[in-house]
Amino acid sequence: MRLTDCHNIDDFRALAKRRLPWPVFDYIDGAADDEVTRRRNRDAFDRCDLIPRVLTGMETVDMRTTLFGREVAMPLFLSPTALQRLFHWQGERAVLRAAADAGTVAGISSLATIGLAEAGALTGGPKLFQLYVHHDEGLNRAMLDAARAARFDAVALTVDTIVGGNRERCLRSGFTSPPRFTARNMLSYAIKPGWGLNYVCREKFSLPNLATHVSEGSSVPRSVAEYFTTMLDQSLDWRRAEAIRKQWDGPFCLKGIVAVEDARRAVDIGATAIMVSNHGGRQLDGSIAPFDALADIVDAVGDKVEVICDGGITRGTHVLKALSVGAKACSGGRLYLYALAAAGEAGVARAVTLLRAEIERGMKLMGAKSLADLSRGNLRWR
Ligand code: LAC
Repeated sequence: MRLTDCHNIDDFRALAKRRLPWPVFDYIDGAADDEVTRRRNRDAFDRCDLIPRVLTGMETVDMRTTLFGREVAMPLFLSPTALQRLFHWQGERAVLRAAADAGTVAGISSLATIGLAEAGALTGGPKLFQLYVHHDEGLNRAMLDAARAARFDAVALTVDTIVGGNRERCLRSGFTSPPRFTARNMLSYAIKPGWGLNYVCREKFSLPNLATHVSEGSSVPRSVAEYFTTMLDQSLDWRRAEAIRKQWDGPFCLKGIVAVEDARRAVDIGATAIMVSNHGGRQLDGSIAPFDALADIVDAVGDKVEVICDGGITRGTHVLKALSVGAKACSGGRLYLYALAAAGEAGVARAVTLLRAEIERGMKLMGAKSLADLSRGNLRWR
């Protein structure tokens, strides 16, 4: 199987599975508890049908929109995700370039494997910095300062990781950041020598945005769930979120909202965007899918903030459904991480190109010339 054999996100997933040691693949692919929410995030789109309009003359479609104060070429972007150089040696650099080439937003995590200054210098494309609030207030401030200096367009404050989710695949595999090679898991790495050679021979793994303040996760191995539980500040509340919002001048997003009341409070503290998200089902299993939560949230705050539907998206038609409900844009993590693991920058570029083509084809088949033509009138729920 080669990159040119990948025609959809499931194909990239299959290729990633071949390339990665299984503990690394399972870290990306896995979720919390029984992974019910992970499945539901995608299945939610299947309970809703599109009603296309025909004979509308559809030579060109316009899918441009604005997001975080920037014009973007498509209503789908790459959510921030951690540890990317573990999935492919090109890591965040590949993701930033592919996003900029596609004219869309790249998310960069606090747990990124390149520094924010480098990320800022790499492309002029729109960039979102994802803040995890740590116990160490100096670290939180240093990261916001670095994002400002690197001219990130927006900050997303993560609000759904007050403790780590129960990721049983990671418990079984013993996956940590950085990876710990033990007698028990050695074989899983040894049978993927391509990955191992890159891990050993390329630039040393680190989490540069954290490493100035903490060694956990960067040089001292930790599971991500353990990292969240021990390093992140569980006292994080609305008062603190509002104080953090005041430390950032530009567009500010809360990532991980699914309750209508929380969406309203996000508006009250001055957020300009919310990511309706359950962290890819990796935190609270059994929590509502973003697409299922979307309509009520759009009704409550859709005229006040940019509402982003994050999670479960594997198809252009999923984006069309979310936008028809009233989302400003969609985003996803696994949708490009499988492609990154499969083939680095070329993989991410192909995944984004395919999804863009799906959105364009879908708009033509729907009779929607621009995103403004999408509305709840084109949807029926089963
Ligand atoms: C995760 C974090 C790091 O879900 O986003 O693993």
